[in-house]
Amino acid sequence: MSNMFEIEKIRAQFPILEREVYGKRLIYLDSAATAQKPLCVVKKMEELLLNDNANIHRGVHLLSEEMTAKYEEAREVVRSFIGAESREEVVFTSGATMSLNLVASSYCEKFLHEGDNVVVSHIEHHSNIVPWQLATERKGAELRVIPVADNGELELGTLDALINERTKVVAVTQASNTLGTRPDLAKIIAKAHSVGAVVVVDGCQGVVHGGVDVKALDCDFYAFSGHKLYGPTGIGVLYGKRELLDKMPPYMGGGDMVDKVTFAKTTYASLPLKFEAGTSNFIGAVGLAEAIKFLQQLSAEEVEKHEKELLDYATAELQKIEGVRIYGTTADKSPIISFNVEGCDHYDIGMILDKQGVAVRTGHHCAEPVMARYGTNGVVRASIALYTNKEDIEMFIKAVKRAVSMLK
Ligand code: ALA
Repeated sequence: MSNMFEIEKIRAQFPILEREVYGKRLIYLDSAATAQKPLCVVKKMEELLLNDNANIHRGVHLLSEEMTAKYEEAREVVRSFIGAESREEVVFTSGATMSLNLVASSYCEKFLHEGDNVVVSHIEHHSNIVPWQLATERKGAELRVIPVADNGELELGTLDALINERTKVVAVTQASNTLGTRPDLAKIIAKAHSVGAVVVVDGCQGVVHGGVDVKALDCDFYAFSGHKLYGPTGIGVLYGKRELLDKMPPYMGGGDMVDKVTFAKTTYASLPLKFEAGTSNFIGAVGLAEAIKFLQQLSAEEVEKHEKELLDYATAELQKIEGVRIYGTTADKSPIISFNVEGCDHYDIGMILDKQGVAVRTGHHCAEPVMARYGTNGVVRASIALYTNKEDIEMFIKAVKRAVSMLK
């Protein structure tokens, strides 16, 4: 196990972990739904709201200028964190769902035509399926699906059959929110690029565990949300290659995204503002940058090692419980365990865990095709974050055993 002293120091940055539920210590294993926020993020946002609040890119007054500078500094923090070439390639959105919808709407409006196809994988979150369904339906194009094997691995042997010269977009996750699978993105991107298709990566779960280098990966678009990355809700990022964003029409119209407006013709602002209509969540953007700075103070290798050790420990202990089925068993999966216990309903397990202070997510996890693939209508999911400790896992396993003994 990693240095416990360090872990306890990290945990001290997350006061919510001290609270009790039903008179019991909170065991928070739902970080894949939303991660808790360190003190530095909360304090930074409080400070901005109390002392610095003013709308960006608009006023000539000092506060507006200062907040604009902080917002643009936040963009630079994100740029450097994901390895983008320029700040023009970093668009702030309300979250990954908006980022993905932006690409599906704007890119497909211009580049998807009748008879073309878009390829997604079977393990996507609904937010990386439905926008593509909307786009393909609108354009008379076809939606194709990369199948998934029993262990949760994508069947990439099918790529040659699925991706052809009519493929315009391949949309795939960096890490599945239910199975933990981390697809071989390099292979998918190489195949897509060989036919001239662009690749959109849903980085929601992946960016949290291991980060990303968009340039090295050579993806065309990359989306993630702030709130899963220890930052605030209501802020997200869309990375896009500049030459692509330049060619795409605006997604939403409004203030800040225009150059000149007349009734005869409107011209648009340059990147990235072309895609940032309306008042942006500037406090959230600075909060997200603070979360990134918090992460950058830690050793990514140590965090990854710590989370992997807890994942392996939790997996081994769960497997000892009779009737447990774990969904997603690839070797390098992200620290998420989805499971069911034979003869027990996932919702009932979740409810009993809750009463013991253990917060997990149950249900279809916005990934109904995954549930259908594995013949279930829902699973229990425990997700591990950098602040999870061994005691959390011990309590979780104890609580699952208790739930099973009550339900069987
Ligand atoms: N997409 C989030 C999850 O997987 C909400 O829980």
